Amino acid sequence: MQTVFFDPTRTYDDNFDNGPFPQLANEAPKRKITKKYKFLDFEINLPFGIPAGPLPTSKHIKAAFDYGFDVSHYKTQRSTVFPVNQFPNVLYIDVEGDLTLEKAKKPLVGRSEMTKDPKEITITNSFGNPCRGTEFWQEDMKKAVSYEKDGQLMIASVVGTIKKGFSDEDYYDDFAYTAKLANETGVKVIEVNLSCPNVANEGIICFAPDAVVAICRKSKEAIGNTPLLAKVGYFSKDQEELLETIIKKTKPFVSGWAAINTIPAPVVDTQGNQALPGPNRLQSGICGASIKWAGIDMVRRLTMIREKLGLDFGIIGVGGVMTPHDFFEYRKAGADVVQSATGAMWNPNLAHEIWQEENRK
Ligand SMILES: Cc1cc2nc3c(=O)[nH]c(=O)nc-3n(C[C@H](O)[C@H](O)[C@H](O)COP(=O)(O)O)c2cc1C
Repeated sequence: MQTVFFDPTRTYDDNFDNGPFPQLANEAPKRKITKKYKFLDFEINLPFGIPAGPLPTSKHIKAAFDYGFDVSHYKTQRSTVFPVNQFPNVLYIDVEGDLTLEKAKKPLVGRSEMTKDPKEITITNSFGNPCRGTEFWQEDMKKAVSYEKDGQLMIASVVGTIKKGFSDEDYYDDFAYTAKLANETGVKVIEVNLSCPNVANEGIICFAPDAVVAICRKSKEAIGNTPLLAKVGYFSKDQEELLETIIKKTKPFVSGWAAINTIPAPVVDTQGNQALPGPNRLQSGICGASIKWAGIDMVRRLTMIREKLGLDFGIIGVGGVMTPHDFFEYRKAGADVVQSATGAMWNPNLAHEIWQEENRK
């Protein structure tokens, strides 16, 4: 089964230098531009796209826009060169039904072969937020922004990097510095990635309220009028108050929330050994069909908090969107924009299918 945009059977560098695979642009489906939707203050044709990850260069962004993924992210960038985790970076995961938090505590089997229909797959992805350096990505991001067409929006995702001797405060400043570099490219919206596993030895940083507030405040100060989004992981039921507290405290800085990233779980091979090669890779982020429940649950809770506090932040719903039906479920839950990483990688026509269904109504 062939993937598009990002091909996980090839190395990250091969995808980066030679992708997207296959070369798609001339086959892009035709459609009428209607711009019926708004996200933040931007007019949007279809409130659907690809989140940070499968689109690592301007060439990938161009292909996604050509295919009607109208709100798409350029992959998360850093302030410094950073290596990619050892290949392979993607495995298919055996999960029956929803990947609940209980199920995610126990080891899951990862395989290199797909055993399910592509609409039902669950995968793990583990890249480590690689970066070719700021000179490369700033230039390339400018090009990517220039590919935005009428009713389309590109979002830049950034993350801080812990450098030798850094205090917590230095680390938060590094998020802001990277956001500033992204802002210099002319991109219209910037997202801080607060949901990467095991950063700052704090676990996933979105659950540390002081860190989140500091990162959002500093990043917003660094980018001025450009809207700031924050991407978070899944907050469990007993973290509900924490989520509301974080939203209240970051209110002056954050224009929108994106949820969710992956659900971390231990991934093993059929013998029970760590499946992905290299240190610290037993625990790995899980995405695709089996995490949809968590993305939808977060969108519902963000919607409730938005109403309760009388706020108007934007909501991007992500996780397990494999079909047009999943898109409409997210919209019903309150998502202003919906995105798909795994689903889009295995179906380049997903945006077009949604657009057709939307226009049939
Ligand atoms: C190949 C791949 C690379 C990813 N890289 C990033 C990344 O750089 N930054 C980020 O915030 N999320 C990254 N993600 C997570 C996705 O943005 C998304 O939150 C997650 O995969 C859940 O959506 P899905 O079920 O549609 O895949 C990546 C996902 C995939 C599949």
